[in-house]
Amino acid sequence: MKSSGTTNTKNRLRLGVNIDHVATIRNARGSNYPDPVRAAKIAAEYGADGITAHLREDRRHITDSDIHRLSDEINLPLNLEMAATNEMLEIAIRHKPHAACVVPEKREERTTEGGLDVIGQMKHLEPFVKTLVDANIRVSLFVEPDPAVLDAAKKLGAPVVELHTGSYCDAPLGEKRNNELQRIIKAAAHADEIGLECHAGHGLTFDSVTPVAEIKTIAELNIGHFLVGEAIFVGLGSSITEMRRLMDVARGGGKK
Ligand code: PXP
Repeated sequence: MKSSGTTNTKNRLRLGVNIDHVATIRNARGSNYPDPVRAAKIAAEYGADGITAHLREDRRHITDSDIHRLSDEINLPLNLEMAATNEMLEIAIRHKPHAACVVPEKREERTTEGGLDVIGQMKHLEPFVKTLVDANIRVSLFVEPDPAVLDAAKKLGAPVVELHTGSYCDAPLGEKRNNELQRIIKAAAHADEIGLECHAGHGLTFDSVTPVAEIKTIAELNIGHFLVGEAIFVGLGSSITEMRRLMDVARGGGKK
């Protein structure tokens, strides 16, 4: 059943559902199930505003064929997470996703650890951002919630930044968690001041999403690992419905 979308459109926080870890389970056995494209279709039905997929250089979860099928079969905007490499740039230009989120990538990491070093990698990133922007792909840079990094992203010409919420989610409840939240609040305000659209994501769960969703200058959250894990117990539709509800309530809408 489709979400009712009771929050008014201006205030509505978009939810990008990341389906990478459906592919992780599939690839663990080298089978052709569970199918991430089927997950994307369910996500669309249950209130996702977009589908996010990370085509990693080692293809550990999402494959080239998944990106091809997602582009062909899904009606929602596709947000392709990609490293700043020539191979990924060529794939992005070929598929023309709605958006491309440029992320740092290390082969040995379990997940995307930390944001892009936009300041140190300015020269390297510049042609990637330009080529993607010129191809009408909405570019976002996955960054730490640090105003100086946001200024660098703006200088590069990226219209969007996605704030890495990993440190916030990993911090123990209390002062440390609150300090991390304050960094996100300040960075989101700064993004708004300098004219960047602000997204956020990584590690968000039912327990951690509300304070981030309450930040009015954040336009979109991208959430995956928790939703797919929760789906084991309640089904993907229910797990997305509950996340959508929490996000809507945080924005002053939805059912409490
Ligand atoms: N945003 C970005 C840029 C990411 O790299 C990821 C993880 O692939 C996410 C959001 C979603 O993180 P999680 O799967 O922990 O919800």
